[in-house]
Amino acid sequence: MHQLAIVYHSAQGHTEHIARHIAEGARSAGTSEVELLTADTLAREPDRLLPYDGLILGSPTYLGGVSAPFKGFMDATGRLWRTQALKGKLAAGFTVSSLPAGDKQSTLMSMWVFSMQHGMVWVGNPFLPEQHKGVPYDEAANRLGSWSGLMAQAGHGSAADAFVAGDLKTADMFGRHFADTLARFAVPA
Ligand SMILES: Cc1cc2nc3c(=O)[nH]c(=O)nc-3n(C[C@H](O)[C@H](O)[C@H](O)COP(=O)(O)O)c2cc1C
Repeated sequence: MHQLAIVYHSAQGHTEHIARHIAEGARSAGTSEVELLTADTLAREPDRLLPYDGLILGSPTYLGGVSAPFKGFMDATGRLWRTQALKGKLAAGFTVSSLPAGDKQSTLMSMWVFSMQHGMVWVGNPFLPEQHKGVPYDEAANRLGSWSGLMAQAGHGSAADAFVAGDLKTADMFGRHFADTLARFAVPA
């Protein structure tokens, strides 16, 4: 089995809700063991990343970028960067914000640059927006049209009610795609 970690920060639970859907999608492949790890935990213990073959990074978009706790995690990996200890792992990113665009792209770009600096291999979100095939917009996979990583839009209210079906479906598909890619390209640790 491959080892996959979903590393996330979530203040209000929306990003965590999407992380759990991604985990379910990844587990459905039957080829990876999947763990959810918080950015706060990893900021204290970044070496916990070492056994994983793949990392899926997730943060809410705050003012067009990753949240401060997620950046704290990123910065805590500086020592791992010096030895390129994460080199060759697969990586992907997702972000949640309240607006349809909300400058989520720059959050994903920051995760991508982070992954490139660590020598990791980036995996995208390769799904054509299903509304183009007549699926109702709110039910359509990749309705927000993001290929560089997964975007989801959170309405107000509790995390369980905040997402349309299309964004939850996309999260499941994104997790499954990452696990399938891991199974195709990575040698188990
Ligand atoms: C400080 C702050 C900055 C935010 N900036 C943005 C933003 O730039 N774009 C956006 O669409 N939503 C923005 N939001 C909304 C959050 O992205 C949204 O509430 C998200 O669902 C929070 O995720 P969480 O529940 O996992 O904490 C911001 C929220 C906060 C608290």
